[in-house]
Amino acid sequence: MIDLRTDTLTQPTPGMRRAIAEAVVGDEQKREDPTVIALEERGAELLGHEEAVFLPTATMANQIALRVLSEPGDEVVGDGLAHIFRYELGGPAVHSGLVLKALETPDGRFTPAQVRAAVNPPGDMHMAPTRVLCVENTHNGGGGRVWMLEQVRAVAAEGRRHGLVLHLDGARLLNAVVASGTPAAAYGREFDTATLCLSKGLGCPLGALVAGSRERMAKARRLKHLFGGAMRQAGMVAAAGLYALDHHVERLADDHANARRLAEGLVDAGLPVDLAQVETNFVQLDAGALGLDADDAIGRLRAQGVLLSFAARDGVLRAVTHLDVSVDDVDEAIELIPRALSGAAPTADLAADAPTPF
Ligand SMILES: Cc1ncc(COP(=O)(O)O)c(C=O)c1O
Repeated sequence: MIDLRTDTLTQPTPGMRRAIAEAVVGDEQKREDPTVIALEERGAELLGHEEAVFLPTATMANQIALRVLSEPGDEVVGDGLAHIFRYELGGPAVHSGLVLKALETPDGRFTPAQVRAAVNPPGDMHMAPTRVLCVENTHNGGGGRVWMLEQVRAVAAEGRRHGLVLHLDGARLLNAVVASGTPAAAYGREFDTATLCLSKGLGCPLGALVAGSRERMAKARRLKHLFGGAMRQAGMVAAAGLYALDHHVERLADDHANARRLAEGLVDAGLPVDLAQVETNFVQLDAGALGLDADDAIGRLRAQGVLLSFAARDGVLRAVTHLDVSVDDVDEAIELIPRALSGAAPTADLAADAPTPF
């Protein structure tokens, strides 16, 4: 099987496994794990903030950031395709009592004018105070799209004009960094809190960071404990994070090149893939334009030995390149995907466990 469902599927490499095995660990809940502390210090510097907190998942990192930045009853603005808005189980409402205002965008990137229009009148006695502005970079639901620094600065400046605080869901920020050439800290500094996931393109088995000011991260640490995320010998996984930051960042360019190679191969085979949308490690294939139902298309692909997932938009499939996808895999996929989508319809059970877009 060539598994292009998502970049969370990666297996730890031999080098990463060695780093895990050799990790010096302690009780991280007591702040006695030197490897976790080293990763947090590295993450803070990387993201351009005073302090960072190591967490098990990017979902927890986003949710803690929102809680730190808001009061119950506040409103959060972001694009409607964002992971925080669509795929975190309504966490902002559950954990922090927040109202979400979803902006409509073609690809996850919105404009300063949209921010301006979204802000409720300050002091209004009937409306939720608009408080937090969220940006996701790269944007998963938008197809791995990159916010360039000028775009971020424009919406951030508009948000600040209205007194908003800003959160960056940078689960795949390093993909944006590699694609744009902009340092992570330059992006991070535009925000009050920034998250980074270690278990997507970076290839760790788990782990994420949230970064911000010392004061905000003190609150984040308390919330981490409150939500049951304060761990013990977590240096076993923090070691993987340090290893990934040393060895798996520049190579994200290989994933981006593989995605482009795949996209170009599919276009050459006559499939509906928009090359302009391929900015990082995601390729979107419009099954609807082929007259195929997305479930049906996923089933056909599985039958040929290629796994894709659904993109956020109806009828669109997603192929994601990552550490465990080689150039040879891509070339094979370029053969198999057109064959699958022009072949006979699959049996119903082949489409049964079609994957979700994470
Ligand atoms: C943009 C973005 N943010 C946050 C997350 C959450 O990551 P996790 O599922 O590891 O908590 C994901 C997962 O796909 C994501 O794509």
